[in-house]
Amino acid sequence: MLSDCATADCIWINLRPATLDPAIAGPYGAPDGLWALAVKGETIAALIPMDVLDSSILEIPVHDAGGRWATPGLVDCHTHLVFAGSRAAEWEMRLAGVSYSEIARRGGGILNTVRATRAASEDELLALALPRAKALAVEGVTCVEIKSGYGLTLADELKMLRVARRIGEQLPLDVSPTLLAAHVVPPEFSGRADDYIDHIIHDMLPAAKGLAEAVDVFCEGIAFSTAQCERLFTAAKAHGFAIKAHAEQLTLQRGSEAVARHGGWSADHLEFLDEQGVNALRAASTVAVLLPGSFYFLRETQKPPAALLRASCVPMALATDFNPGTSPFASLRLAMNQACVMFGLSPEEALRGATAHAAQALGRGAQLGTLTPGKRADFLLWDVAHPAEIVCSLGTNPLVERVVRGKVTHV
Ligand code: NIG
Ligand code: FE
Repeated sequence: MLSDCATADCIWINLRPATLDPAIAGPYGAPDGLWALAVKGETIAALIPMDVLDSSILEIPVHDAGGRWATPGLVDCHTHLVFAGSRAAEWEMRLAGVSYSEIARRGGGILNTVRATRAASEDELLALALPRAKALAVEGVTCVEIKSGYGLTLADELKMLRVARRIGEQLPLDVSPTLLAAHVVPPEFSGRADDYIDHIIHDMLPAAKGLAEAVDVFCEGIAFSTAQCERLFTAAKAHGFAIKAHAEQLTLQRGSEAVARHGGWSADHLEFLDEQGVNALRAASTVAVLLPGSFYFLRETQKPPAALLRASCVPMALATDFNPGTSPFASLRLAMNQACVMFGLSPEEALRGATAHAAQALGRGAQLGTLTPGKRADFLLWDVAHPAEIVCSLGTNPLVERVVRGKVTHV
């Protein structure tokens, strides 16, 4: 409202807002014409059509967007960007025909990265992770989820979570840290997965309080059973963590139903999700996070049921799954592009998936993800002729301004 404008701290004028707000009719939630966006503190105070803007507003600092498109800040709701070591040699093996699961059975894969990550100090891990987080931010990510899961001891998992926190202190990024101690059974607990789950429950959950917002699991034949995941979910919720799962990535294990039963934030991957699973996600309002980077890089053929998720009105989010083994890509724009080309999402669904729905997948739906008065003033200005161009064309970066908590930021 205009009255909110009068008390604003600063204002962006002449922008074309792709609000992604479902309350605003039309593609991309984009109203016609040029608009002004007023900021008060860290919050969007108002969106006003330019033709009703009162010139008295020009007393406060004015940024002229020059007719550019504006979107909410991008949210990458699933990453494993803290790690040491390289898995390029494993990629060579995969290209020569050895499967991801076979490499894992031989002690490689996730455990390969665990060895390198355990050997690295906290400062070394931070130095490795900062450029990766920065690469995401340069393309417009303003909020990122970062998982542990390559430590698998109490000390090494906490080390990873502290690195995640420090990334948020050093870069203009809102970091949502996740404890993924149940990523794979560590060598010390080989053949004793239940004992390792007990260790997570009794020792890691209490220690991770205040360092992680959520607890994640890898519910898969090569990792943890659905029953083991549920046991961890129950304990995690009792400690106040949100929960989520890597589910139905390589096989149908019904992990998504387990995470939905426990009211989880999201179920992620979902290549093998069936109708029963889709219905469970819908009933629990759990977000379906699709990760096209790992689908592409593992050369999977079974696609997640995007059409069924759409028809069932399950919110679909997209993320990079940035990790050294299955998705070594620090580009959420690439993930959006892949989701359109490979999974059949529209560019509008892709943008919604990397903003509003991704924010929902991090429990931040009320604060982030749309250009809506009252939400945090995290937004982006793009030099594009149409919002689909943000998703369509890669290799150049059309982002011209990145505003976080109401301030222009440079990364
Ligand atoms: O999301 N699926 C399990 N976890 C990761 C892969 C991690 C890795 O291979 O290092 C994923 O694909
Ligand atoms: Fe993952």
